Amino acid sequence: MSSELSAEQPSAALTPAQIASLQQQAVTVAHHAYAPYSNFRVGAALLLTDGTIVTGCNVENASYRLTTCAEQTAITSAVALRGPGIRIRAIAVANLNQTASQPCGACRQTIHEFSTPDTIVYFPAEGGSIAQATMAELLPAAFLLNE
Ligand code: THU
Repeated sequence: MSSELSAEQPSAALTPAQIASLQQQAVTVAHHAYAPYSNFRVGAALLLTDGTIVTGCNVENASYRLTTCAEQTAITSAVALRGPGIRIRAIAVANLNQTASQPCGACRQTIHEFSTPDTIVYFPAEGGSIAQATMAELLPAAFLLNE
């Protein structure tokens, strides 16, 4: 799923309304999650630097290890939609369990592939609040090939 948020603004901070909209879209897509094993339904909404919003949810598998996280699903869709040159300006992640949850390590590395150090991630924190961190904070020592 994708939609447009605003014209190109690669680095400017998001307004509270933009953050709320991104967060709401993450909640909405979390309802599509396929999570019969964990019952932990997750949604992610990406805001690309061209203003496109692309969403994704977790898709689990009976083998467990073939599960795809919401962030990864969203990024896969974004590449399919806009091509390999996408850059992520911000990501909102939500779950339907009303619990604090940060992106897992694998997701951090996946997000890193299409991010800048300033890419902002919004995620559920304690007490129902929304926390935010940059990719530089979440994954300061990412794996890079040929470094
Ligand atoms: N999950 C995500 O979708 N994103 C994360 O960053 C952490 C975990 C999913 C994977 C699995 O379907 C469920 O949450 C429980 O781990």
